[in-house]
Amino acid sequence: MEPKLVDLRVDRARLLGRIEALHEIAPITGDGGSRGNARLALTDADREARDLVVAWMGDLGLTVTVDSIGNVTATTPWGDGAPVMTGSHIDTVRTGGRFDGNLGVLAGLEVIETCLTGNVTTPRPLAVAFFTNEEGARFAPDMMGSLTYAGGLAIEDALDTVGIDGARVGDELERIGYAGPFPCPGPAPHAFVELHVEQGPVLEREGVTIGVVTGVQGISWHELTVVGQSNHAGTTPMHLRHDAGEVAAEIAVFVRRLALELGPPQVGTVGVLELQPNLVNVVAARAKLTVDLRNTDDAVLTEAERRVAIFSDELAEREHVTITSRSLARFAPVAFAPDLVDRVEATARELGHSVFRLPSGAGHDAQMLARMCPTAMVFTPSIGGISHNPAELTADADLEAGANVLLQVLLQLATAP
Ligand code: GLV
Ligand code: MN
Ligand code: MN
Repeated sequence: MEPKLVDLRVDRARLLGRIEALHEIAPITGDGGSRGNARLALTDADREARDLVVAWMGDLGLTVTVDSIGNVTATTPWGDGAPVMTGSHIDTVRTGGRFDGNLGVLAGLEVIETCLTGNVTTPRPLAVAFFTNEEGARFAPDMMGSLTYAGGLAIEDALDTVGIDGARVGDELERIGYAGPFPCPGPAPHAFVELHVEQGPVLEREGVTIGVVTGVQGISWHELTVVGQSNHAGTTPMHLRHDAGEVAAEIAVFVRRLALELGPPQVGTVGVLELQPNLVNVVAARAKLTVDLRNTDDAVLTEAERRVAIFSDELAEREHVTITSRSLARFAPVAFAPDLVDRVEATARELGHSVFRLPSGAGHDAQMLARMCPTAMVFTPSIGGISHNPAELTADADLEAGANVLLQVLLQLATAP
């Protein structure tokens, strides 16, 4: 494929300026003075960030729609038919970086502004969206907005989801003014391409500028609740305990050993571990923990889930505790559209960038949009492979390179018959 480049480039300073302005909403400081964000989905901070991005969309003269799960889409006034869509998310985890998701949304705006200032229009419209609750850190599952948009989750179920703080998605959407009138599932775009930071170490290690994403690995999230018996830490002999804390710790160790035994790309994480009553001299009565398992091979992922379930059952019997497991999210691995993946690679090369093909380790809205239309992603390198951490960082030149690849790919898709 010989992609034809349009003589148009994004404005690096304008893109970086918007990233900085969005970072000003609910900023946090991490190690070494690093600058990230804590903008959990549907909080006041999320509302403020939404309002800012919607104002920018309006300033560009775009048609802005809000759907019933709060996804916001801005479409160019030019073009006919289904739009070529880009976008990502602006919610963050509580310890988020300032690029995760935000880059994809703001690069989409930058692509459209570049077209406007360059007097370039396309036969198909361009659209940029931000999807509700991609992170899943407050409400599970993750990618909730794009999943609902793509018809993978009924809107009623999405709205009824209760978060870690007891809030309900539907109520929070109403509260922040983003329960929109447009229905879910939404209309299928002509194609979807998302720019995102890699959030892992591969591109930096390979020494390349652009990651060509082949797909997204499968994701399995479970919440396990262990109920034992609280008792005195000094008087209760070890063999008479029903220690929910000890059981949770064994599961955490098992998850790590299992991932190591299955080998890459299997990963396993216990990211939440809460004990009750959480006191120095009391055997824990209850424990809540989460198990996050991921693999590009669905069969191995299913096997990992099975092994965790068997281990939990055996442990419950041995320790005389009960363990209940609730699925929070389960997504099969996704392969992106081969033609579109090839187009991303050829375009990046034509722009003079070094490239590397890789699957995504993190979940993304593109993973959900792939159910509706040809989809692909562009990655930029993450310095030190750090993400979900205020220290998340991508070099300015790489952000610009990624946005230019996005620009050229979107223009090709919006122009091709
Ligand atoms: C969501 O972004 C995830 O990968 O956990
Ligand atoms: Mn993200
Ligand atoms: Mn994230």
